[in-house]
Amino acid sequence: MQGRTYIRDLKQHVGKEVTVAGWISGRRDHGKLIFLDLRDETGLVQTVAKPTHAEAHGTADTLRQEWVVKGQAMVNKRPEKMVNAEQENGDIELEFIALEVLNEAETPLFDLSTPGYEVSEEIRLKYRYLDLRRARLQKNMRMRDKVIKYMRNFLSERGFVEIETPILTKSTPEGARDYVVPARLEWGKFYALPQSPQQYKQLLMASGFERYFQVARVFRDEDMRGDRQAEFTQLDIELAFPTQEEILNLTETLYTLIVQELYPKKRIQEVPWPRMSYDEAMKKYGTDRPDIRENKEDPDLLAFVWVLDFPLFEAGMEHGHYAPSHHMFTAPKEEDIEKLDTDPGSVRSYQHDMVLNGYEVGGGSIRIHRSDLQQKIFKLIGFDERQQKEFAHMLEAFRKGVPPHGGIAPGIDRLLMVLENEPNIREVIAFPKTGEGRDLMMSAPSEISQKQLDELGLKVQKKKSQP
Ligand code: AMO
Repeated sequence: MQGRTYIRDLKQHVGKEVTVAGWISGRRDHGKLIFLDLRDETGLVQTVAKPTHAEAHGTADTLRQEWVVKGQAMVNKRPEKMVNAEQENGDIELEFIALEVLNEAETPLFDLSTPGYEVSEEIRLKYRYLDLRRARLQKNMRMRDKVIKYMRNFLSERGFVEIETPILTKSTPEGARDYVVPARLEWGKFYALPQSPQQYKQLLMASGFERYFQVARVFRDEDMRGDRQAEFTQLDIELAFPTQEEILNLTETLYTLIVQELYPKKRIQEVPWPRMSYDEAMKKYGTDRPDIRENKEDPDLLAFVWVLDFPLFEAGMEHGHYAPSHHMFTAPKEEDIEKLDTDPGSVRSYQHDMVLNGYEVGGGSIRIHRSDLQQKIFKLIGFDERQQKEFAHMLEAFRKGVPPHGGIAPGIDRLLMVLENEPNIREVIAFPKTGEGRDLMMSAPSEISQKQLDELGLKVQKKKSQP
């Protein structure tokens, strides 16, 4: 809107006439005076419509909560005794000279002036665009933006290149169920949405990009919990020729700076972050994501810890085979490689997990970059010939001059959840899904038309009871 002044900047215009636009947040009538709280994305200000400007006053009289308006107004200093130091813009007031309704609004379904925890989440998610207007969620989304921008700048300054990788791809063996997309041109074939860009980022190392990152959306069809969503965002990072130490230092520096610069009120319990072996974490805390905070009551305490020296394989064998404890591309520790032949269960790996206040906020590893070693791991995890063929492109790439490489993928949603002291990651995602994987606002998932099914060569079997 041309010539519009944002509420944040009104104080620079005291004694002048401005054009403002926004939402009506509240209304109080005092005799002939109509007081309206006006809100835009930069703030809130008290306005008044007086009978002296009859037309504006008449319009003001019709206004209700969440109506969208535009107005001409004088920015007045409030008389001394009307100043409210507690209030945002508590020392000024707008007096409308002209007022125009741009859009009326139905009465809001719930209170937008509170943090909103008291409102049923089902209703909040169904009307998420309304819910997002509340100050708490506005702040969460804006801090998310700041954190992601900080990550991008930090990595870009250090020579990392952001490269997008495909969303329509092939199943990645990350351990969760894939979301699949039917291929119209090849009936009976399906793309899978990536559970992570793992293979692509390794193949980018094969492509000669030595420092890759991506703010990557990934998809996992698994049971959702407070700290899990079906689609979530990773800061995906991979480097050529790294030591594990370099990966840990890079991530630690980035996260420490994010806290210092964007959350200066928070305190990191220990810098450099403490490190713990998997065995020690299990022995001392009974979990591989220990909450080592010295005071769990303090909402501003951040206890980061690295968990290292994971076993390469999960304990116990299934059907005579091992299962990777991270993923099948994680490298065994150099000094343990021989034990792959004699005692695979005791082999430790170059996996590194980043834990914050008891949440796993990142994971990664040094990778295997040799075809023979990768093949050996495939055998130990029981891949048959068909399964090995699925990864033939990785083995082939490893035979064409791939540098040693490694990386990490911190989960951005979980980090924000902890930084914003939110009880679950839905509060830091603009349009999250419910525990059952539904988008209540869009009503997704939904049926598709018979025409679409026919084009894809699909026939839906009705289940008596859905899983
Ligand atoms: P991993 O599977 O450990 O590693 O995932 C990395 C990080 O992503 C976050 N995360 C999730 N966040 C929200 N909802 C979920 N369902 C969810 N699942 C995981 C966690 C976790 O630490 N490709 C490897 C990384 C690598 O090896 O570089 C990977 O995806 O914070």
